[in-house]
Amino acid sequence: MNILILGSGGREHALAWAALQNPKCDKLIVAPGNAGIAMIAECARLDILDGGAVAEFAGDNAIDMVIVGPEAPLAAGVADRLRDAGLLVFGPSAAAARLEASKSFTKEICDACNAPTAAYGHFTDAAAAKAYVQTQGAPIVIKADGLAAGKGVIIAETLAEAEAAIDDMFGGAFGGAGAEVVIEEFMTGEEASFFVLCDGTNALPIGTAQDHKRVGAGDTGPNTGGMGAYSPAPVLTDALAEQAMAQIVRPTLAEMVRRGTPYQGVLFVGLMISEKGPRLVEYNCRFGDPECQVLMLRLGAQALDLIHACTEERLDEIQVNWADDHAMTVVMAANGYPGDYAKGDVIEGLGTLPENSSTMMFHAGTEQSDGQILSAGGRVLNATARGATLQEARARAYALLEQVNWPGGFCRDDIGWRAL
Ligand code: AMP
Ligand code: GLY
Repeated sequence: MNILILGSGGREHALAWAALQNPKCDKLIVAPGNAGIAMIAECARLDILDGGAVAEFAGDNAIDMVIVGPEAPLAAGVADRLRDAGLLVFGPSAAAARLEASKSFTKEICDACNAPTAAYGHFTDAAAAKAYVQTQGAPIVIKADGLAAGKGVIIAETLAEAEAAIDDMFGGAFGGAGAEVVIEEFMTGEEASFFVLCDGTNALPIGTAQDHKRVGAGDTGPNTGGMGAYSPAPVLTDALAEQAMAQIVRPTLAEMVRRGTPYQGVLFVGLMISEKGPRLVEYNCRFGDPECQVLMLRLGAQALDLIHACTEERLDEIQVNWADDHAMTVVMAANGYPGDYAKGDVIEGLGTLPENSSTMMFHAGTEQSDGQILSAGGRVLNATARGATLQEARARAYALLEQVNWPGGFCRDDIGWRAL
Protein backbone atom coordinates (compact mmCIF):
# COMPACT_ATOMS: atom_id res chain seq x y z
CA MET A 1 0.00 0.00 0.00
CA ASN A 2 1.26 3.48 -0.90
CA ILE A 3 0.55 6.01 1.81
CA LEU A 4 0.58 9.81 1.97
CA ILE A 5 0.57 11.55 5.35
CA LEU A 6 -0.28 15.27 5.51
CA GLY A 7 1.39 17.40 8.18
CA SER A 8 4.75 18.39 9.61
CA GLY A 9 4.77 17.85 13.36
CA GLY A 10 5.63 15.25 15.96
CA ARG A 11 2.20 13.73 15.43
CA GLU A 12 2.95 13.07 11.78
CA HIS A 13 6.46 11.76 12.57
CA ALA A 14 4.84 9.26 14.96
CA LEU A 15 2.21 8.26 12.39
CA ALA A 16 4.94 7.78 9.77
CA TRP A 17 7.05 5.74 12.18
CA ALA A 18 4.11 3.45 13.03
CA ALA A 19 3.16 3.00 9.36
CA LEU A 20 6.72 1.98 8.52
CA GLN A 21 6.68 -0.76 11.19
CA ASN A 22 3.97 -2.48 9.17
CA PRO A 23 4.95 -4.61 6.14
CA LYS A 24 1.74 -3.46 4.42
CA CYS A 25 3.39 -0.09 3.86
CA ASP A 26 5.16 -0.21 0.46
CA LYS A 27 5.77 3.49 -0.05
CA LEU A 28 5.40 6.41 2.33
CA ILE A 29 5.42 10.10 1.47
CA VAL A 30 4.87 12.85 4.05
CA ALA A 31 3.94 16.37 2.99
CA PRO A 32 5.47 18.67 3.97
CA GLY A 33 7.24 16.70 6.77
CA ASN A 34 10.26 17.86 8.82
CA ALA A 35 13.92 16.92 9.34
CA GLY A 36 13.13 13.90 11.52
CA ILE A 37 10.51 12.58 9.12
CA ALA A 38 12.99 13.02 6.26
CA MET A 39 15.27 10.50 8.01
CA ILE A 40 12.64 7.75 7.61
CA ALA A 41 10.42 8.73 4.66
CA GLU A 42 10.26 10.78 1.49
CA CYS A 43 9.05 14.34 2.11
CA ALA A 44 7.22 16.39 -0.51
CA ARG A 45 6.42 20.06 -0.79
CA LEU A 46 2.70 20.45 -1.17
CA ASP A 47 0.05 22.97 -0.10
CA ILE A 48 -1.89 20.62 2.17
CA LEU A 49 -4.84 23.03 2.40
CA ASP A 50 -5.41 22.72 -1.35
CA GLY A 51 -7.50 19.56 -1.84
CA GLY A 52 -7.14 19.68 -5.61
CA ALA A 53 -3.36 19.85 -5.42
CA VAL A 54 -3.22 17.01 -2.88
CA ALA A 55 -5.54 14.82 -5.03
CA GLU A 56 -3.40 15.46 -8.10
CA PHE A 57 -0.21 14.66 -6.19
CA ALA A 58 -1.78 11.46 -4.86
CA GLY A 59 -2.76 10.42 -8.38
CA ASP A 60 0.70 11.14 -9.79
CA ASN A 61 2.33 9.08 -7.01
CA ALA A 62 -0.04 6.09 -7.08
CA ILE A 63 -1.15 6.77 -3.49
CA ASP A 64 -3.78 4.39 -2.08
CA MET A 65 -4.45 5.97 1.29
CA VAL A 66 -4.09 9.48 2.72
CA ILE A 67 -3.78 10.08 6.46
CA VAL A 68 -4.61 13.69 7.35
CA GLY A 69 -2.74 14.82 10.49
CA PRO A 70 -3.90 18.36 11.41
CA GLU A 71 -7.37 19.93 11.60
CA ALA A 72 -6.91 22.79 9.12
CA PRO A 73 -7.01 20.65 5.94
CA LEU A 74 -9.98 18.72 7.34
CA ALA A 75 -11.93 21.90 8.07
CA ALA A 76 -10.99 23.08 4.55
CA GLY A 77 -12.59 20.00 2.95
CA VAL A 78 -9.41 18.24 1.82
CA ALA A 79 -10.75 14.82 2.90
CA ASP A 80 -13.92 15.39 0.85
CA ARG A 81 -11.89 16.21 -2.23
CA LEU A 82 -9.68 13.11 -1.78
CA ARG A 83 -12.67 10.79 -1.23
CA ASP A 84 -14.26 12.17 -4.40
CA ALA A 85 -11.03 11.20 -6.18
CA GLY A 86 -11.54 7.59 -5.02
CA LEU A 87 -8.79 7.51 -2.39
CA LEU A 88 -8.96 5.87 1.02
CA VAL A 89 -8.91 8.76 3.48
CA PHE A 90 -8.30 8.84 7.22
CA GLY A 91 -10.00 12.01 8.44
CA PRO A 92 -13.53 13.41 8.47
CA SER A 93 -15.37 15.47 5.88
CA ALA A 94 -15.56 19.23 6.40
CA ALA A 95 -19.15 18.78 7.61
CA ALA A 96 -18.10 16.23 10.24
CA ALA A 97 -14.96 18.19 11.17
CA ARG A 98 -17.30 20.89 12.49
CA LEU A 99 -17.15 18.89 15.72
CA GLU A 100 -13.80 20.66 16.15
CA ALA A 101 -14.19 23.68 13.90
CA SER A 102 -17.32 25.04 15.62
CA LYS A 103 -17.79 24.88 19.36
CA SER A 104 -21.46 25.90 19.10
CA PHE A 105 -22.02 23.05 16.62
CA THR A 106 -20.63 20.56 19.15
CA LYS A 107 -22.87 21.98 21.88
CA GLU A 108 -25.87 21.67 19.54
CA ILE A 109 -24.98 18.01 18.90
CA CYS A 110 -24.65 17.39 22.66
CA ASP A 111 -28.09 18.95 23.19
CA ALA A 112 -29.57 16.79 20.44
CA CYS A 113 -28.21 13.54 21.88
CA ASN A 114 -28.23 14.43 25.58
CA ALA A 115 -24.48 14.02 26.04
CA PRO A 116 -23.22 15.31 29.41
CA THR A 117 -21.26 18.55 28.98
CA ALA A 118 -21.01 22.06 30.48
CA ALA A 119 -24.14 24.26 30.43
CA TYR A 120 -23.67 27.03 27.87
CA GLY A 121 -24.95 30.00 25.94
CA HIS A 122 -24.16 30.88 22.29
CA PHE A 123 -23.86 34.56 21.30
CA THR A 124 -23.34 36.72 18.25
CA ASP A 125 -23.14 40.05 20.10
CA ALA A 126 -21.27 41.34 23.12
CA ALA A 127 -24.24 42.85 24.99
CA ALA A 128 -26.17 39.58 25.15
CA ALA A 129 -23.00 37.68 26.07
CA LYS A 130 -22.28 40.08 28.95
CA ALA A 131 -25.85 39.88 30.20
CA TYR A 132 -25.55 36.07 30.29
CA VAL A 133 -22.27 36.25 32.21
CA GLN A 134 -23.95 38.51 34.80
CA THR A 135 -26.64 35.88 35.39
CA GLN A 136 -24.09 33.01 35.64
CA GLY A 137 -21.26 34.53 37.72
CA ALA A 138 -17.56 33.61 37.71
CA PRO A 139 -15.49 31.52 37.18
CA ILE A 140 -16.81 31.07 33.67
CA VAL A 141 -15.32 29.97 30.35
CA ILE A 142 -15.40 32.19 27.25
CA LYS A 143 -14.68 30.47 23.91
CA ALA A 144 -14.26 31.73 20.37
CA ASP A 145 -16.54 29.54 18.27
CA GLY A 146 -14.09 28.77 15.44
CA LEU A 147 -10.58 27.34 15.06
CA ALA A 148 -8.09 29.53 16.95
CA ALA A 149 -4.98 27.32 17.07
CA GLY A 150 -5.74 26.28 20.64
CA LYS A 151 -5.82 29.89 21.89
CA GLY A 152 -9.53 30.71 21.76
CA VAL A 153 -10.47 29.60 25.29
CA ILE A 154 -10.35 32.04 28.22
CA ILE A 155 -11.04 30.82 31.74
CA ALA A 156 -12.30 33.98 33.44
CA GLU A 157 -11.87 34.02 37.21
CA THR A 158 -13.89 37.23 37.61
CA LEU A 159 -16.78 38.94 35.83
CA ALA A 160 -14.42 41.74 34.76
CA GLU A 161 -12.12 39.21 33.07
CA ALA A 162 -15.11 37.59 31.40
CA GLU A 163 -16.32 40.92 30.01
CA ALA A 164 -12.82 41.78 28.77
CA ALA A 165 -12.60 38.40 27.02
CA ILE A 166 -15.98 38.98 25.38
CA ASP A 167 -14.85 42.40 24.15
CA ASP A 168 -11.58 40.91 22.83
CA MET A 169 -13.36 38.15 20.94
CA PHE A 170 -16.02 40.34 19.36
CA GLY A 171 -13.28 42.94 18.76
CA GLY A 172 -11.49 40.50 16.45
CA ALA A 173 -8.64 39.24 18.67
CA PHE A 174 -9.18 35.76 17.19
CA GLY A 175 -10.17 36.93 13.73
CA GLY A 176 -13.25 35.27 12.24
CA ALA A 177 -13.09 32.51 14.88
CA GLY A 178 -14.44 34.99 17.45
CA ALA A 179 -17.40 36.32 15.44
CA GLU A 180 -19.49 33.93 17.53
CA VAL A 181 -18.83 33.14 21.17
CA VAL A 182 -19.75 30.19 23.37
CA ILE A 183 -19.89 30.78 27.12
CA GLU A 184 -19.68 27.72 29.34
CA GLU A 185 -20.05 26.69 32.91
CA PHE A 186 -16.60 26.13 34.47
CA MET A 187 -16.29 22.39 35.05
CA THR A 188 -14.06 20.93 37.75
CA GLY A 189 -12.38 17.54 37.84
CA GLU A 190 -9.41 15.89 36.14
CA GLU A 191 -9.03 16.10 32.37
CA ALA A 192 -8.25 13.12 30.18
CA SER A 193 -8.23 12.47 26.45
CA PHE A 194 -9.92 9.51 24.85
CA PHE A 195 -9.20 8.45 21.27
CA VAL A 196 -11.84 6.60 19.28
CA LEU A 197 -11.63 5.46 15.66
CA CYS A 198 -14.93 5.92 13.84
CA ASP A 199 -15.77 4.60 10.38
CA GLY A 200 -19.16 6.25 10.08
CA THR A 201 -21.01 3.34 11.68
CA ASN A 202 -18.62 1.60 14.08
CA ALA A 203 -16.53 3.06 16.88
CA LEU A 204 -13.38 1.51 18.31
CA PRO A 205 -11.53 3.03 21.30
CA ILE A 206 -7.75 2.93 20.76
CA GLY A 207 -6.35 4.50 23.88
CA THR A 208 -6.34 7.18 26.53
CA ALA A 209 -3.82 9.90 27.38
CA GLN A 210 -3.27 12.96 29.50
CA ASP A 211 -1.28 15.96 28.42
CA HIS A 212 0.22 18.99 30.13
CA LYS A 213 -1.07 22.16 28.48
CA ARG A 214 0.68 24.72 30.71
CA VAL A 215 4.27 25.70 30.00
CA GLY A 216 5.53 25.61 33.60
CA ALA A 217 6.24 23.02 36.28
CA GLY A 218 3.23 22.03 38.36
CA ASP A 219 0.93 22.95 35.44
CA THR A 220 1.38 26.70 35.82
CA GLY A 221 1.95 29.56 33.37
CA PRO A 222 0.53 30.17 29.91
CA ASN A 223 -1.21 27.54 27.79
CA THR A 224 0.73 25.75 25.04
CA GLY A 225 -0.11 23.14 22.44
CA GLY A 226 1.04 20.54 25.00
CA MET A 227 4.38 20.11 26.80
CA GLY A 228 4.21 16.35 27.26
CA ALA A 229 1.79 13.46 27.51
CA TYR A 230 1.44 9.95 28.82
CA SER A 231 -0.73 6.98 28.09
CA PRO A 232 -2.79 5.35 29.50
CA ALA A 233 -4.59 7.97 31.61
CA PRO A 234 -5.08 6.33 35.01
CA VAL A 235 -8.14 8.50 35.75
CA LEU A 236 -9.99 7.10 32.72
CA THR A 237 -10.73 3.60 34.00
CA ASP A 238 -12.30 0.99 31.71
CA ALA A 239 -15.66 1.60 33.36
CA LEU A 240 -15.47 5.39 32.83
CA ALA A 241 -14.30 4.89 29.24
CA GLU A 242 -17.30 2.66 28.58
CA GLN A 243 -19.55 5.27 30.21
CA ALA A 244 -18.08 7.92 27.90
CA MET A 245 -18.70 5.67 24.89
CA ALA A 246 -22.30 5.01 25.95
CA GLN A 247 -23.28 8.55 27.00
CA ILE A 248 -21.15 10.75 24.74
CA VAL A 249 -19.36 9.11 21.79
CA ARG A 250 -21.94 6.66 20.40
CA PRO A 251 -24.84 9.14 20.72
CA THR A 252 -22.74 11.79 18.94
CA LEU A 253 -21.87 9.43 16.10
CA ALA A 254 -25.51 8.37 15.75
CA GLU A 255 -26.57 12.03 15.60
CA MET A 256 -23.96 12.71 12.89
CA VAL A 257 -25.35 9.78 10.87
CA ARG A 258 -28.90 11.05 11.39
CA ARG A 259 -27.83 14.42 9.95
CA GLY A 260 -26.33 12.79 6.88
CA THR A 261 -22.75 13.69 7.90
CA PRO A 262 -21.24 10.49 9.33
CA TYR A 263 -17.91 10.89 11.12
CA GLN A 264 -14.93 8.98 9.71
CA GLY A 265 -11.48 9.22 11.25
CA VAL A 266 -10.20 9.55 14.79
CA LEU A 267 -12.37 11.38 17.27
CA PHE A 268 -10.31 13.01 20.03
CA VAL A 269 -12.67 13.21 22.99
CA GLY A 270 -11.56 15.71 25.66
CA LEU A 271 -13.22 14.73 28.93
CA MET A 272 -13.57 16.21 32.40
CA ILE A 273 -13.80 13.43 34.96
CA SER A 274 -15.71 14.44 38.08
CA GLU A 275 -17.84 12.71 40.72
CA LYS A 276 -20.67 13.02 38.21
CA GLY A 277 -18.74 10.85 35.72
CA PRO A 278 -17.24 11.91 32.38
CA ARG A 279 -18.42 15.16 30.77
CA LEU A 280 -17.37 16.42 27.35
CA VAL A 281 -14.98 19.39 27.26
CA GLU A 282 -14.40 19.36 23.52
CA TYR A 283 -14.00 17.24 20.44
CA ASN A 284 -11.06 17.40 18.05
CA CYS A 285 -11.28 15.81 14.62
CA ARG A 286 -7.69 14.48 14.59
CA PHE A 287 -5.07 12.94 16.87
CA GLY A 288 -3.69 15.13 19.63
CA ASP A 289 -0.15 16.39 19.37
CA PRO A 290 1.76 15.18 21.46
CA GLU A 291 -0.83 12.55 22.55
CA CYS A 292 -0.45 10.77 19.20
CA GLN A 293 3.24 10.13 19.90
CA VAL A 294 2.51 8.01 22.99
CA LEU A 295 -0.39 6.21 21.33
CA MET A 296 1.69 5.30 18.26
CA LEU A 297 4.60 4.04 20.33
CA ARG A 298 2.21 1.78 22.26
CA LEU A 299 0.27 0.54 19.22
CA GLY A 300 3.24 0.10 16.88
CA ALA A 301 2.59 -1.59 13.52
CA GLN A 302 -1.06 -2.37 14.29
CA ALA A 303 -1.82 1.36 14.15
CA LEU A 304 -1.71 1.12 10.36
CA ASP A 305 -4.07 -1.89 10.30
CA LEU A 306 -6.50 0.03 12.50
CA ILE A 307 -6.32 3.17 10.35
CA HIS A 308 -6.71 1.10 7.18
CA ALA A 309 -9.75 -0.73 8.58
CA CYS A 310 -11.20 2.65 9.55
CA THR A 311 -10.89 4.00 6.00
CA GLU A 312 -12.50 0.82 4.59
CA GLU A 313 -15.39 0.95 7.09
CA ARG A 314 -14.55 -2.39 8.67
CA LEU A 315 -13.76 -1.45 12.25
CA ASP A 316 -16.26 -4.12 13.33
CA GLU A 317 -13.82 -6.75 12.01
CA ILE A 318 -10.71 -5.62 13.85
CA GLN A 319 -9.46 -5.57 17.44
CA VAL A 320 -6.81 -3.67 19.29
CA ASN A 321 -4.14 -5.84 20.89
CA TRP A 322 -3.38 -3.96 24.05
CA ALA A 323 0.02 -4.33 25.66
CA ASP A 324 0.05 -3.79 29.39
CA ASP A 325 2.51 -0.93 29.01
CA HIS A 326 2.91 2.81 29.56
CA ALA A 327 4.37 5.52 27.35
CA MET A 328 5.48 9.09 27.92
CA THR A 329 6.55 11.90 25.63
CA VAL A 330 8.42 14.99 26.82
CA VAL A 331 8.37 18.05 24.59
CA MET A 332 11.52 20.10 24.14
CA ALA A 333 10.58 23.62 23.08
CA ALA A 334 12.48 26.75 22.07
CA ASN A 335 13.24 29.17 24.96
CA GLY A 336 10.45 31.75 25.06
CA TYR A 337 7.70 29.44 23.76
CA PRO A 338 4.67 29.92 23.83
CA GLY A 339 5.72 33.58 23.44
CA ASP A 340 8.40 34.79 21.02
CA TYR A 341 11.29 32.43 20.37
CA ALA A 342 14.28 32.08 18.06
CA LYS A 343 14.46 29.70 15.10
CA GLY A 344 17.50 28.31 13.33
CA ASP A 345 19.48 27.05 16.35
CA VAL A 346 21.77 24.10 15.61
CA ILE A 347 20.69 21.01 17.60
CA GLU A 348 23.41 18.45 18.22
CA GLY A 349 23.27 14.82 19.27
CA LEU A 350 20.21 13.79 17.28
CA GLY A 351 22.07 11.58 14.82
CA THR A 352 23.25 9.00 17.32
CA LEU A 353 20.15 8.44 19.46
CA PRO A 354 18.84 4.91 20.03
CA GLU A 355 15.67 4.33 17.99
CA ASN A 356 13.75 1.16 18.65
CA SER A 357 10.33 -0.11 19.60
CA SER A 358 10.57 1.43 23.07
CA THR A 359 12.42 4.70 22.46
CA MET A 360 11.97 7.29 19.70
CA MET A 361 12.86 10.94 19.35
CA PHE A 362 10.03 12.31 17.25
CA HIS A 363 10.71 15.65 15.60
CA ALA A 364 8.13 18.44 15.69
CA GLY A 365 9.63 21.75 14.48
CA THR A 366 12.96 20.89 12.86
CA GLU A 367 14.56 21.43 9.48
CA GLN A 368 17.72 20.24 7.82
CA SER A 369 20.34 22.57 6.41
CA ASP A 370 23.87 21.69 5.23
CA GLY A 371 23.81 18.39 7.10
CA GLN A 372 22.76 20.02 10.37
CA ILE A 373 19.44 19.91 12.16
CA LEU A 374 18.01 23.29 13.08
CA SER A 375 15.11 24.34 15.27
CA ALA A 376 12.22 25.59 13.16
CA GLY A 377 9.28 26.03 15.51
CA GLY A 378 8.11 26.48 19.10
CA ARG A 379 7.73 22.84 20.02
CA VAL A 380 10.77 21.17 18.48
CA LEU A 381 11.44 17.64 19.79
CA ASN A 382 9.35 14.93 21.46
CA ALA A 383 11.41 12.43 23.47
CA THR A 384 9.10 9.42 23.58
CA ALA A 385 9.51 6.11 25.37
CA ARG A 386 7.53 3.20 26.69
CA GLY A 387 8.07 0.75 29.51
CA ALA A 388 6.41 -1.73 31.81
CA THR A 389 5.62 1.15 34.16
CA LEU A 390 5.16 4.88 33.68
CA GLN A 391 8.24 5.36 35.86
CA GLU A 392 10.30 3.29 33.41
CA ALA A 393 8.89 5.13 30.39
CA ARG A 394 9.67 8.43 32.09
CA ALA A 395 13.28 7.47 32.86
CA ARG A 396 13.84 6.43 29.24
CA ALA A 397 12.28 9.58 27.78
CA TYR A 398 14.35 11.91 29.97
CA ALA A 399 17.52 9.85 29.30
CA LEU A 400 16.96 10.45 25.59
CA LEU A 401 16.80 14.21 26.16
CA GLU A 402 20.08 14.16 28.07
CA GLN A 403 21.86 13.18 24.88
CA VAL A 404 20.61 16.25 23.03
CA ASN A 405 22.75 19.38 23.00
CA TRP A 406 20.58 22.43 22.41
CA PRO A 407 21.17 25.36 24.80
CA GLY A 408 18.27 27.26 23.21
CA GLY A 409 15.70 24.67 24.26
CA PHE A 410 13.89 23.68 27.46
CA CYS A 411 11.51 21.02 28.71
CA ARG A 412 9.33 20.53 31.76
CA ASP A 413 10.94 18.16 34.24
CA ASP A 414 7.68 16.96 35.80
CA ILE A 415 5.73 15.35 32.96
CA GLY A 416 3.43 12.71 34.42
CA TRP A 417 3.56 14.06 37.99
CA ARG A 418 -0.16 13.54 38.56
CA ALA A 419 0.02 9.88 37.61
CA LEU A 420 3.34 9.22 39.36
P1 AMP B 1 -10.59 23.52 24.53
O1 AMP B 1 -9.84 24.25 23.45
O2 AMP B 1 -12.06 23.55 24.42
O3 AMP B 1 -9.98 22.17 24.82
O4 AMP B 1 -10.20 24.25 25.87
C1 AMP B 1 -8.87 24.32 26.30
C2 AMP B 1 -8.79 23.97 27.75
O5 AMP B 1 -9.60 24.86 28.51
C3 AMP B 1 -9.32 22.60 28.09
O6 AMP B 1 -8.40 21.59 27.88
C4 AMP B 1 -9.67 22.77 29.54
O7 AMP B 1 -8.50 22.69 30.33
C5 AMP B 1 -10.17 24.17 29.60
N1 AMP B 1 -11.65 24.19 29.48
C6 AMP B 1 -12.36 24.31 28.34
N2 AMP B 1 -13.69 24.32 28.63
C7 AMP B 1 -13.81 24.20 29.96
C8 AMP B 1 -14.92 24.16 30.86
N3 AMP B 1 -16.18 24.29 30.42
N4 AMP B 1 -14.66 24.03 32.18
C9 AMP B 1 -13.38 23.94 32.62
N5 AMP B 1 -12.30 24.01 31.83
C10 AMP B 1 -12.50 24.12 30.51
N1 GLY C 1 -2.36 18.42 22.72
C1 GLY C 1 -3.66 18.96 22.48
C2 GLY C 1 -4.08 18.99 21.08
O1 GLY C 1 -3.50 18.38 20.20
O2 GLY C 1 -5.09 19.63 20.80
